[in-house]
Amino acid sequence: MDILVKGGVLADGSRADVAIAGGIITAVEPRITAQAGEVIDATGKLISAPFVDAHFHMDATLSYGRPRVNASGTLLEGIALWGELKQQQTREDIVARALDYCRQAVGQGVLAIRSHVDVTDPNFRTVEALLEVRQRVRDVLDLQLVAFPQDGWYRAPGAEAQVIRALDAGVDVVGGIPHFERTMAAGATSVRAACELAAARGLRVDLHCDESDDPHSRHIETLAAETIRLGLQGRVAGSHLTSMHSMDNYYVAKLLPLIAEAQVAAIPNPLINITLQGRMDSYPKRRGLTRVPELRAAGVTVAFGQDCVRDPWYPLGSGDMLEVAHMGLHVALMTAPDQMRAAYQMVTDTPAQIMGLDFGLEVGKRASLIVLDAPDPIEALRLRPARLAVISNGRVVARTEPARCAISAGF
Ligand code: FE2
Repeated sequence: MDILVKGGVLADGSRADVAIAGGIITAVEPRITAQAGEVIDATGKLISAPFVDAHFHMDATLSYGRPRVNASGTLLEGIALWGELKQQQTREDIVARALDYCRQAVGQGVLAIRSHVDVTDPNFRTVEALLEVRQRVRDVLDLQLVAFPQDGWYRAPGAEAQVIRALDAGVDVVGGIPHFERTMAAGATSVRAACELAAARGLRVDLHCDESDDPHSRHIETLAAETIRLGLQGRVAGSHLTSMHSMDNYYVAKLLPLIAEAQVAAIPNPLINITLQGRMDSYPKRRGLTRVPELRAAGVTVAFGQDCVRDPWYPLGSGDMLEVAHMGLHVALMTAPDQMRAAYQMVTDTPAQIMGLDFGLEVGKRASLIVLDAPDPIEALRLRPARLAVISNGRVVARTEPARCAISAGF
């Protein structure tokens, strides 16, 4: 045995030792006495599957303030700023920032990220840079790339050809942005084109879908219908879905079962949705986050994503998926104990499932897990504590000492 994690607590409250050999979990039992090359004392601490971020933009991360900050705080100004930045940045610049972010994320226990990569950069630097990054981090971090036509599948000249070029180069997933096309009809056509391309190539689909406060932005309906028509069930995700926040309840009552029937996953991004949406409202201001509890109740798979860290759309973010889940459960009013436990799953097991990863604390699975300085998932959400140990594919790749505060208040 290479590593023995001793005395930990699983998410269900049961005590467990975890044995690791050859990069695989070989035992999960209440007490393991065999010798190990390395013993990690996890007494009373939560042993968890790693954090997984199913929605990120690694080509833009850590670029905040370049060429200037987003003054309006809107999605559209962010897209315009990114349009300027992507003309200026070099491949080396993108690689350096992405690797910096990957190190920060791994330190927080994030061992898989699905990153959209803008393919509408005509010189293709973003794609080449992130393919290099995927290769360089692969032993530690699963980086899944989405061919994302940021400026529109049809609206940007040549974007469709660039999506195909990116897939040919090894990008994993078909992306899109139907609400940014010139018309609703063009948006619907782009959804169809993306799904047909994925079906022809046996790929997954993840569209930026209805990231809008417009209740009439209904591309998720087309995405679900195309998923069923093309037999893509279980391979398709709709990211954001913020327009659903503002839709008529009667229409949503029809829409939710359709999404469930199509097995289309939903990936809202709470930190970003709560800051980009509602910008044109006076009061009351809409929250923008999609209908998370209602989607879950309808049987839809829902994961929370990070989306942005210090980029043209968001000045904050830390790569900590507990911060993401913390915001998500607040905005979605998911404060019942079972809902908070679900929020924890929405940044661990559920995004792993959406991405098709074999993570999980079970014998025979990859030995990728984390030990947190908290006894259970709810305390982890409350405290967002140190990731005491991060193990990826059977190797300890990060450790964090818990911060200690000496109080001398005198009462
Ligand atoms: Fe995004």
